[in-house]
Amino acid sequence: MCGIVGYYGPKDPKSVILEGLQTLEYRGYDSAGVAILNGSEYKRIRAEGKLAALADKLADETFDGAIGIGHTRWATHGPPSERNAHPHCIEGVNIVHNGIIENYAELREELMSEGATFSSDTDSELVAHLINKSMKSTGNLMEAVMKMMKRLEGAYSILAVSADAPEEMVAFKNGPPLILGVGEKELVVASDIQAIMPHTNKVIFLEDDEVVYIRKDRYELFNRSGGLIKKEVEVIDWSPEQVEKQGFKHYMLKEIFEQPRAVAQAIDPHINLETKSVALTRVGFGGARVEELPKIDVQEDLQLTNETLEGIERIFIVACGTSYYAGQVGEYLIEQIARVPVECDIGSEFRYRYPVIPENSLVITISQSGETADTLAALRLVKQQGAKVLSICNVRRSSIDREADGHLYMNAGAEIGVASTKAFVSTLSLLQIFAIQLAKVKGVLNQDTEKPFVEALVSLPSQMEKVLVHDKFFEEAASSLKTYRGFLYMGRGVSFPIAMEGALKLKELAYMHAEGYAAGEMKHGPLALIDESMAVVMLVANDELYDKTVSNLEEAKARGGQIISIGSGENQKLQNLSLHYLSIPEAHWTVNPVLQVLPLQLLAYHVASSLGHDVDQPRNLAKSVTVE
Ligand code: AGP
Repeated sequence: MCGIVGYYGPKDPKSVILEGLQTLEYRGYDSAGVAILNGSEYKRIRAEGKLAALADKLADETFDGAIGIGHTRWATHGPPSERNAHPHCIEGVNIVHNGIIENYAELREELMSEGATFSSDTDSELVAHLINKSMKSTGNLMEAVMKMMKRLEGAYSILAVSADAPEEMVAFKNGPPLILGVGEKELVVASDIQAIMPHTNKVIFLEDDEVVYIRKDRYELFNRSGGLIKKEVEVIDWSPEQVEKQGFKHYMLKEIFEQPRAVAQAIDPHINLETKSVALTRVGFGGARVEELPKIDVQEDLQLTNETLEGIERIFIVACGTSYYAGQVGEYLIEQIARVPVECDIGSEFRYRYPVIPENSLVITISQSGETADTLAALRLVKQQGAKVLSICNVRRSSIDREADGHLYMNAGAEIGVASTKAFVSTLSLLQIFAIQLAKVKGVLNQDTEKPFVEALVSLPSQMEKVLVHDKFFEEAASSLKTYRGFLYMGRGVSFPIAMEGALKLKELAYMHAEGYAAGEMKHGPLALIDESMAVVMLVANDELYDKTVSNLEEAKARGGQIISIGSGENQKLQNLSLHYLSIPEAHWTVNPVLQVLPLQLLAYHVASSLGHDVDQPRNLAKSVTVE
């Protein structure tokens, strides 16, 4: 996701901002820019590509001001390009933005009807227009930002400066993180703590709907309605490892919160944001395009060309553990979107059941580590039978990656926690991309009918940010949740594998008995398990199976089950039926699995953490099972 840095102080803003953006590079991006005061104007320099391109452009530039803002952009609206890079500038107002403005189309329309012209395809540019419009009447930057905020819907963290208020900066946080560093006569605003630590260890973590008004080296904090607020300045005494964990207690919690960015990084190489269409390409880490990749030494690299895909008549997915549950979601997605038969198998079973792999089959292996013995053995088995293997993996040049024919990369960044989270959601997004491409090649979808499936993916990272707010609930509920005798996770259709994954997370982290089940199977046995000591987690998606799943929930409740339900939007019926109701945004059915798994990860994490378990290294488990 995008990175933001703002600075006021005696140092050279150009180096502070560039170095700050460099610490945010891991977030993934495709363009960058700065706007720094020089004389009475802001000089804006932007560049497509990596920060090195921006640094080259800035090499001979000098600035005499003490204030500036910078940004690394992860394209959501509008392709990667200099004209779409931030900061966006309208008549001296410069802004940088992280997040997605959901009502940007109507606001853009309204501004254009008032004569505004747009030079980019982004949603962010309209923020500069709205602020500039107010600045023209009041000349007051703080007021202008407060007025702008009232118009926006979605997740958006913003930094704004104006040549008409040359010593001021206003920051607003709603969704993506923003932190204020309070130094000696200097202030730094950034998306992550690493950009701040070189200058000060005194920070204020902004919460949603909080505004920072900076004038020279002074600051004030306000709430969304303009009321002054006081917040404690925290002194950060993190070790380098803790800075690496960005202040999270465990790597796993950090990785749970990295998931919106991981999904964005997984899908970005394959989505054309202008046409909202999929163009499956073989890519490397960090979104490197195929032409930038060193040649991977595999025999014949399955280029995932349309001809290859067109000839596929059957698909096998083979994986283990969490990756297997991702494959099960993939089975639903590919069959329902592309209408091609799919069979998903556990690696350790597949390799010993003498599978029959018909002609024109494609085998997809899913492995975060790329070293799981059973999955690797399955790959070798099918290759002996002449089948082509497409690997979905998070570790380039791992054994599975090297021996596969085709390559899709999760691009999730290193996953340290043994319990897999961000790799899982990245895989689900890649499987949806693959299903859409296959459907287009098979003539099941076209450039128009694919759009809803693609738009669902583009909106997904900002929707995930909204679900992660449930972290607070589970932190507080953990001490009561851990008292249950056991947990039964239930779902139907594409939510059923998520029920299985939710149960696995609780097993592997809290060492508690938990079982995932198809909700329609309750009467065939599991109903006998249910009484007041059993927690029942019901995944109630806003899909065609909603009514049936609600009936299953009522059956469980009638027998005393302690209901924890995950539903779409504010659902009074589910709230009335449940001990705890957690909502996810109303979304396209294909992305419900990603949104549903987030609360289940948080539930397992906080119960395990409250039990004092080593969450990053659960007992008896390894991050990569390289033996049978
Ligand atoms: C997931 O939380 C577990 N760590 C485990 O089930 C894991 O998914 C499985 O071992 C497969 O690993 P892989 O994705 O690296 O192949």
